[in-house]
Amino acid sequence: MGYPHPAHPKETPVLSKHFGDAGARTFDGWVQRGGYAALRKALGMTPDAIIEEVKGSGLRGRGGAGFPTGLKWSFMPKGDGKPHYLVCNADESEPGTFKDREIMRWTPHQLIEGCAIAAYAIGAERCYIYIRGEFTEPLRVMTAAVAEAYAKGALGADVFGSGKRIDIVLHRGAGAYICGEETAMMNSIEGRRGNPRIKPPFPAQAGLFALPTTINNVETLASVSHILNRGAEWYKGLCLSNPKSTGTKLISVCGHVQRPGNYEVTMGTPMKDLIFDMCGGMKPGRTLKAVIPGGSSVPIMTAAETEDCLLDYEGVVARGSMLGSAGMIVMDDSTDMVYQIWRLARFYAHESCAQCTQCREGTAWTTKILERILAGKGKASDLDLLLSLSENMTGKTICVLSDSCAAPIVSGIAKFRSEFDAYLSGARQPALAMA
Ligand SMILES: Cc1cc2nc3c(=O)[nH]c(=O)nc-3n(C[C@H](O)[C@H](O)[C@H](O)COP(=O)(O)O)c2cc1C
Repeated sequence: MGYPHPAHPKETPVLSKHFGDAGARTFDGWVQRGGYAALRKALGMTPDAIIEEVKGSGLRGRGGAGFPTGLKWSFMPKGDGKPHYLVCNADESEPGTFKDREIMRWTPHQLIEGCAIAAYAIGAERCYIYIRGEFTEPLRVMTAAVAEAYAKGALGADVFGSGKRIDIVLHRGAGAYICGEETAMMNSIEGRRGNPRIKPPFPAQAGLFALPTTINNVETLASVSHILNRGAEWYKGLCLSNPKSTGTKLISVCGHVQRPGNYEVTMGTPMKDLIFDMCGGMKPGRTLKAVIPGGSSVPIMTAAETEDCLLDYEGVVARGSMLGSAGMIVMDDSTDMVYQIWRLARFYAHESCAQCTQCREGTAWTTKILERILAGKGKASDLDLLLSLSENMTGKTICVLSDSCAAPIVSGIAKFRSEFDAYLSGARQPALAMA
């Protein structure tokens, strides 16, 4: 048995190849598995050559938005004489997403190596890894690995004798979802309240401590050493459908499947192969009802929409949702969609930083309306009110937290309206008691 399930023949383990292999956690163990060759190679290249290689690979950000990584790095100013920063986003608070913690738990040096290469490429001497407060074990593993990397010369004032300085600081968050948003994260590192900042200025102009900064997700940075080792062409070739989506993607699958867990697939893999072959399909006697494919912040898909859906950025958009951070929440026919949408809205209401009116009021108000519908006290006008509130919560705030709350509400009403109507008409027994 491998981790925590053996790799399925339809998986492409690159980032997850050493998950479950405790020997990969140490510096020497990582070197024996080919580790740190990419960093040594990178130090012999110019920063521009590294950026070109990453651009050529087609790697896109794995934190949710899918922004091209090499292009983001190229926005950092050159020759400005100012300190630059790299921030690694290890906050991973998106409901349904649990891949970054596994990269850190099992292959901490895969991340450290990626951070060091990226820092060198963007002209940063310091990288902050902002790690979610609840991640006790990943923090412990990362702390030991960073100390070892310093002791072995992979970090510090003279990385592998190159004369280059690269430091990594592990910064522990305090469990706020909003601090995963990149500008809130920078405020949090600075010791301020984790409120998102208005853009522009963009982080590459004025980011952490008002200095040029690049923020990347853990999985994005962990992919970089493989690109340098095996080349942009190899990475680009990991593509089953759209050439704009390349490489492998770690998909966290949770919910009503037989074998939930992390699966690493080539971009463009059919969603049904993942759900039915790799994850073993639904529990006995159950059928697929709905999937939220990108972490909780994206529109809900019906079973019919998942049928010919390809798992890449364009494929999921073509079926009405988004790949996001690829935390797939799978729901079977026993699911009460109204109840699940209420639970999501309640999460966003709890996590809103309350800076923008539409988000502060909208997330709380939609939660209350969903609550009264579930309690059998809904009004005929409630669905229209939910849709109108959702419209005001979309594209009107500093960050997209309130858009994320609106997405499952709007798609849920459009695709599962009869379940809302059943509560409103009294055909369905109340699922909640309301004070
Ligand atoms: C409310 C909110 C929460 C977010 N949480 C995370 C997170 O936990 N991890 C993450 O990598 N990106 C998260 N993001 C996206 C980041 O703002 C940012 O786009 C990402 O870290 C950039 O890295 P990438 O280009 O490598 O994907 C979040 C965004 C928002 C609006």
